[in-house]
Amino acid sequence: MGELPLITPMPAVADFVLPWDGPVNDTVAAIGAARSACGDTFVIDGGDDRYLFLFSPAGLRDFYAVPEQQASKGIADWKMLVRKLPDELFDGRRTLPHELFTRPNVAGYLDALEEAISIQLSELHPGDEIDLFDFTRRLGHRLGLASWGGREILHSDRFDELIEALDVLDGSEAFVAPTRMQEVAQSGKAAEREAMAKTELILADSIAARRNPVGDLLDMILERWADIPDPERLSGVARDVILVHLGSMSNLFAALGWSLVHLVQHPDVLARVRAKQDADHDLVSRCVLESTRIGQRSIMLRTVLEPVTIDDGSQTYEVSPGASLATFLPLTNMEAGPGLDRYDPDRWKGPRLVSPPGLPSELVITFGVGPHACPARPFSVTAMSRVIERLFDAFDLEALFDDARPRPDQIGGVARAADPCMVVLRDR
Ligand code: HEM
Repeated sequence: MGELPLITPMPAVADFVLPWDGPVNDTVAAIGAARSACGDTFVIDGGDDRYLFLFSPAGLRDFYAVPEQQASKGIADWKMLVRKLPDELFDGRRTLPHELFTRPNVAGYLDALEEAISIQLSELHPGDEIDLFDFTRRLGHRLGLASWGGREILHSDRFDELIEALDVLDGSEAFVAPTRMQEVAQSGKAAEREAMAKTELILADSIAARRNPVGDLLDMILERWADIPDPERLSGVARDVILVHLGSMSNLFAALGWSLVHLVQHPDVLARVRAKQDADHDLVSRCVLESTRIGQRSIMLRTVLEPVTIDDGSQTYEVSPGASLATFLPLTNMEAGPGLDRYDPDRWKGPRLVSPPGLPSELVITFGVGPHACPARPFSVTAMSRVIERLFDAFDLEALFDDARPRPDQIGGVARAADPCMVVLRDR
């Protein structure tokens, strides 16, 4: 183990390892116990890494405000994802996911979303028993690929093969199943490399068939590769699409899964969503925010590149390059104020959380705050809301599960369910 980066003064060091350094059964319980023992600011060491965890309002304000060049989210994300994804997927990318969402082009992607939902709903029949998270995962692939891989991919006769390969590649496993990463490293990412080659081939075939621009996000990606001859162009475009898509599969389908679970569990709220009264015109998007809040399992990380000063409200710390700043959303999202342990879409007024009143925005996070807030928030809220409206317009969902639990070992993204959440579909 090398020398660990200095933090001055040194806060308490928690007696705990992060799940990619050793076995952890329940990350929320374990990091919660570290916080109870050490307070709102503490350190966790693992291997060559030193993490400064922050939970106080002032500490979180500094955490979210720190500029990228001083403490990088990009590098922190890459360090996490490269435990699972082949290194070469990151090389030479010409499209960063957030660039796709800079245009206010909601109308542009709506048609693609509607088509993806129609195809998925056409597979469902009254009497079918489905797992809500399997359903949203398949639909998440359709929604995303239709949006940045070109709508034509929805009709590829290799679509099922494509999503199977994407599920093997699945970068989010780095934080959904962190203890599996040692096995991935030992295999030299062999399964991931094979899946990436297959994904690239299927996408490149579909992209090559596009003759004229249609004005979608895939066209934006194609423009960036226009100066490169085939087959490098097709491979570059396909890899850009893959990286954006894997990013989208970190959160969207899981947040949608919890949104459906909560509505099945709260028929009173569902009745209001269906009734579409004026006062509830935005209820469906408030439901989505509420379920995302509850489902959040994100560890937020920044890799310190230049010395950073963090004031946690009681102490000022000088943090040296090489350390990571961190916070873990479930501990604040569910505990920062009274009643936050309950599902209540009416705690939102439009996009703002108003109950409990007066909470600083850094204490309850759905899509992030500050310079790194999620650029795909409007896209994601629209996509999830439309799925909810159309699914519950078409069917009643009868729960076959008693309780829905998040996976306890997850540390990042929105929670996956620990067990299947089966429902039976009934005609309305
Ligand atoms: C329900 C769905 C989603 C949720 C809950 C969500 C949540 C978040 C959160 C909390 C952050 C801030 C992270 C931080 O500060 O460290 C973030 C950033 C980001 N998200 Fe999302 N996200 C969702 C969907 C998506 C989708 C569909 C995409 C695109 C493919 C996307 C792309 C990004 C990007 C590129 C950033 C980084 C922005 C930057 O660093 O400037 N997200 N997201």
